Amino acid sequence: MTVRINPSILSADFVNMQTELDRVATADLVHVDVMDNHFVPNLTFGPQMVQRIQDVSPIPLDVHLMITDADRWAPGYAELGAASVTFHAEAAEDPVKLARRLREIGARAGIALKPGTDVEPYLELLPELDQLLIMTVEPGFGGQAFMADMMPKLRRAREVVEREQLAVWLQVDGGITADTITVAADAGADTFVAGSSVYNSGDPTENIAALRAAAEA
Ligand code: DX5
Ligand code: ZN
Repeated sequence: MTVRINPSILSADFVNMQTELDRVATADLVHVDVMDNHFVPNLTFGPQMVQRIQDVSPIPLDVHLMITDADRWAPGYAELGAASVTFHAEAAEDPVKLARRLREIGARAGIALKPGTDVEPYLELLPELDQLLIMTVEPGFGGQAFMADMMPKLRRAREVVEREQLAVWLQVDGGITADTITVAADAGADTFVAGSSVYNSGDPTENIAALRAAAEA
């Protein structure tokens, strides 16, 4: 299984974004958390900032929208060139229509599920998607503890992806460290978002390599 490590710039130094992006150039995609203080109790940045990140990032963007009214806002992130755009199932009126629109524009389409959201109703949508994000913390903040009790959701999704031979990436986000990544990989994840464990101590390049090695082991 191909492993992808997507560092989250939520843990980066926002006033030195160019440097912070260059520090994670050995990763696969850079994870960009858009928060609106409505869907989650935190606020980050919007399309204008993401456009500049897109302009200067050495690697493609994996945009994670934690915003209400995803139907209205998500296409703009695809249009600015993000490689993938993931919106929350809980925040979209018509997830299938929105996923189709994102793909039409040329982005990979993803749906994210909060810890309290059951995966079962979304499994039949997998053929419409390029990635499914199972949140392993309550969305809103970096540095929270990994919720191992989300692993049954991943296992279910992995079962369906294998059975139907889908090319859908299964992503986890929240509390991913060199220890917890093995738990998520065992449950079927192949794409790993990591914020604090990449940026908050040591060298990001080494941290990315350690995460990759642990996931591939
Ligand atoms: C949380 C965000 C995450 C966050 C993860 O709502 O979606 O992407 O940056 O941070 P860590 O890896 O520190 O849990
Ligand atoms: Zn995220």
